[in-house]
Amino acid sequence: METKVNEISDGIYRFSTFVPEIAPPAGFTFNQFLVLGDDPLLFHSGPRQMFPLIRSALSRLMPPERLRWITFGHYEADECGAMNEWLAVAPQAEVAHGQTGCLVSLNDMADRAPRVLQNGEVIDLGKGKRVRYLDTPHIPHGWEAGVLYEEMSGTLLCGDLFTQLGDGPALTEADIVGPAIVAEDIFKYSSLNPSMGATIRRLAELSPRTLALMHGPTFAGDGAAALRALADNYDHRILDHVPAAAAA
Ligand SMILES: [Fe+2]
Ligand SMILES: [Fe+2]
Repeated sequence: METKVNEISDGIYRFSTFVPEIAPPAGFTFNQFLVLGDDPLLFHSGPRQMFPLIRSALSRLMPPERLRWITFGHYEADECGAMNEWLAVAPQAEVAHGQTGCLVSLNDMADRAPRVLQNGEVIDLGKGKRVRYLDTPHIPHGWEAGVLYEEMSGTLLCGDLFTQLGDGPALTEADIVGPAIVAEDIFKYSSLNPSMGATIRRLAELSPRTLALMHGPTFAGDGAAALRALADNYDHRILDHVPAAAAA
């Protein structure tokens, strides 16, 4: 396996590792994002077993021991499996997450106490980089789920939202909604819930210019339109289940 490194928006770098054994023949990517402010922030630690690969990719851009923030969308191996490995190599680093993530898992599972972020709280990373934390409970899955929005570049680090199969380009302007619908049909990874459409539409109000997918390419273009189309698709899925639930 190799980890590719690409700058996907100003000062934001994508580490991408393709695993052909997952969902063959298309395969599946695992991506992490480094926001290079004065205080560098990593979004997704990567799985524990990929830590050597991702650390070596990050080392091409900065000394790993200078990492300041370790962040991720929710508590799962690909999102945060290597958080304690990063804490061990970077003495100033803190895990930062929302209240639910810290109370339910991270206060216990992280080797150093995490920094609790309020919904909407901003971390100023320096060099003009500011990341805003937004709670998205159960979306696409996990009670503690959330996303980060980098305000200077208009980049939404959207985690598992828009998950797709295959090893596409680092950056695309092509449709990402269709491939996300295909992957949802295959994996059924989202916790369908009544607030899904409304929560995803609130993210559209940010009008992101870039959507950084954890499993797929980074999308450059009208992020609001893509988010609204994804929200519509989930609304339809949920409505399709309501008659079945009412009849049960
Ligand atoms: Fe996930
Ligand atoms: Fe993921």
